[in-house]
Formats: sequence, structure tokens, C-alpha cells
Amino acid sequence: MSAGDEKHERRAERRAALAFLVAAAAAVGLGFVYAGGGNPQAEGLLLAVALGGIGVGLVIWANKLLPQGPVEEQREDLPTTEEEREAFEEDLRGAGLVKRRTLLARTLGLAVLALGGAAVFPIRSLGPSPGKSLKKTAWKPGMKLVDEHDKEVKADTLSVGESITVFPEGHTKDADTQAVMVRVAENQLHPSEERHEWSPEGLLVYSKVCTHAGCPVGLYQVDTHQLICPCHQSAFNVLEEAKPVFGPATRKLPQLPIEVGENGELTATGDFSEPVGPAFWNLG
Ligand code: FES
Repeated sequence: MSAGDEKHERRAERRAALAFLVAAAAAVGLGFVYAGGGNPQAEGLLLAVALGGIGVGLVIWANKLLPQGPVEEQREDLPTTEEEREAFEEDLRGAGLVKRRTLLARTLGLAVLALGGAAVFPIRSLGPSPGKSLKKTAWKPGMKLVDEHDKEVKADTLSVGESITVFPEGHTKDADTQAVMVRVAENQLHPSEERHEWSPEGLLVYSKVCTHAGCPVGLYQVDTHQLICPCHQSAFNVLEEAKPVFGPATRKLPQLPIEVGENGELTATGDFSEPVGPAFWNLG
């Protein structure tokens, strides 16, 4: 290889290494921007520079530093001279056409490592584990039932056939605690043994969050005793523990056990019978 060729090769090697270093720096910058709160434009730009840097480096490496074709295969056996054999062995030891490129290998490794590290950061976006918060609500034994203005709801608030939205006292803004209370004639109720005490004086309280896709189940149809969800028309029979009788919902509305106090005040005796909301709880 002539001195000019070697100079040209070294320059190409430095350019490829520089491209890999730029890619590594961009990937590290990407990690810092993300950790500092994120900026979609800056993150997109840095990711483009990181990937582009690696691409440019690889192209320079392939075009300028690897043997170029065309390569032809000999068509007939040619005897190999001693000099040719020695030259070939020299090539294999790394002084010939195919060379070890330690600098390029290291800088490429650095760039890929930094980019891989930056790619792990978005795991943080998954946020903290929800723990039991998706399975429990704020309802607790002894909590008073109130309306949306945090005003106490009593047993005589409803006549037979009426309904009202209720919340636990002090939690009227919690979407998962909202419930709908209806009053039916006591002789129409045939609760299971487990729920025998849950509906005093014909008062039934069910979660208002539809078990299909989470819409508020706000309509009570008195003649059929059904709570209707306006989104996809699922219907739940309040006399049968709010079992779905029509529409896409497949799960009952969770029931809230309540009791009536001496002065007609209503309090919960526990949380809902099951987690509220869509039916994915039953999967797995
Ligand atoms: S969300 Fe209630 S039926 Fe679909």
C-alpha cells in the first residue's frame, strides 16, 4: 500500500470514528433530555443524530476501509509461489487488506451501548406500580352516603322506583367511588345468603362504572328494574345482583353493602363486592 493510500485510509478511519462518537454523544444527550422531563422535538432530533451517526460511520467503514470489488475467482489452478504464500500469511496476521480496526470497533461499541442505554429510559414512563389501588376504592365501613354536593343521603331520600347517584362522604370527586342507589319494593328482593343484609328497606347500591368500558350507568328503567348504560346499551337487572341481561357487558355491577342507622342515615358496611370497571379483571 502506498503512503498516499495509507494517509487516505487513516483519514477515513478517523471520520468513521468521529461519526460513531457523535452518535454516542447524541444518545447520551437523549437520555439526559428524557430524564430531565422530556422534549419530543429534542428527543426526536437526538435520536435521528444517534442513528444517523452510526449509519454514516458504517457506510464510511464499508466504502473506504474494506476491500473493494470487483473480485474474480481464478478459473484454473495456478501454482502459488513462496512469496505469494508469505504475502497471504502476512494478510492474515493483520498487515494486509483486511485489518483490525480497534478504534472503529470501540467507538461503534460505545455508540451502540449509549443508544441502547437511552432506549431503556422509557421504561420509567410506565410510572409507579398501581398496587392495590385498582382493586379498592375509598368506600370503607362506616362511611356516610352523600350526593354530588356532599350532602347526606338518608333512607327516606328515595321512594320506590327512584334512583340517585351517591358517593362516600368527602370523596365526591373520585370517579371509581360513584354509585347508583335505587329503591325497590322489599317484597321484590330475593338476595343471596351472602348479600342478605346489603339492601335494607329495599335500597340497593351498585357501582356506577359500567363493567363493559367504564361509562357511567346512569339510567334506571323502573318497569324492568334495569340500570342502562348509555354508551352501548348494556342493561343490568338490579333485582338479580345487577347481572347483565343485555348488551356487551359480561360482568355484574359490583354491589356496595349498606345499613340504615337509627335516624335513617345510610352508611357503607364495606367496599364494593368486586373491583369496579371493565371486565378485564376476570382475565388470566
Ligand atoms: S360502556 Fe357500558 S355498555 Fe359499553
